[in-house]
Amino acid sequence: MPLSLSDGEKNPQVLTFKSTLPSGEEVVFRPIEAVDVKLLTEFLEGLSEQTRDFYILDSYDSAKAQEFCDAINKYDKLRFVAINTSTKKVVALVEYSFDIPEGDTKRFLGYGITLNSKTDCRMGPCIADDYQKKGVGSVLFPHIVDIARKFNKERIILWGGVFEDNKKAITFYSKNGFKKVGSFKGTKDASTLDMMREV
Ligand SMILES: CC(C)(COP(=O)(O)OP(=O)(O)OC[C@H]1O[C@@H](n2cnc3c(N)ncnc32)[C@H](O)[C@@H]1OP(=O)(O)O)[C@@H](O)C(=O)NCCC(=O)NCCS
Repeated sequence: MPLSLSDGEKNPQVLTFKSTLPSGEEVVFRPIEAVDVKLLTEFLEGLSEQTRDFYILDSYDSAKAQEFCDAINKYDKLRFVAINTSTKKVVALVEYSFDIPEGDTKRFLGYGITLNSKTDCRMGPCIADDYQKKGVGSVLFPHIVDIARKFNKERIILWGGVFEDNKKAITFYSKNGFKKVGSFKGTKDASTLDMMREV
């Protein structure tokens, strides 16, 4: 039986994973909870300008953290945090959208790909600056795919694509099975790649 969005709140244990980072630190990767506003605020406020240039939100503050928490079990969004079990700090945020907006559907049709909102989903990761390039994304990646599978998704596309100058992310996605399927002018008119992988 595939999971539904409400399982993030009703049944979080089926969506909770423990992992050890290459540094030896333990993290718990789980759906965000209503009480996570402070933790998420700290995480968002701590993101560097460079990370903000690649992971675009309209603000990086308590209002955005509150918005994420208010969206729990609503709309089509499911957000996960990886929390360091000793410092209790958020080291990663991973967002899923289980609906496919019309713009994405049209753009992918232009590449000859028909998206299906039942079996395709969008995903976007952001690792805290101090934890980037230390294998965190790679450790979380099998869980990222497993979560999509639990929701009966067959393909993952990148939420908003990836900027062509975000070489780190493009290499990361390629290493983790994503293929470039097309390109477009994204946010701030930047050259952006669409990438996709099967679940
Ligand atoms: C992109 C991101 C998710 C990758 O996660 P990460 O934890 O930093 O990546 P990892 O340390 O697991 O690295 C995995 C692979 O990425 C590639 N990579 C890492 N740093 C790199 C760099 N500076 N240049 C090129 N490739 C790089 C490598 O192939 C690496 O594998 P390797 O160490 O075996 O060579 C993370 O860096 C991040 O959140 N960046 C800021 C926000 C962002 O860009 N989000 C994506 C928006 S589309």
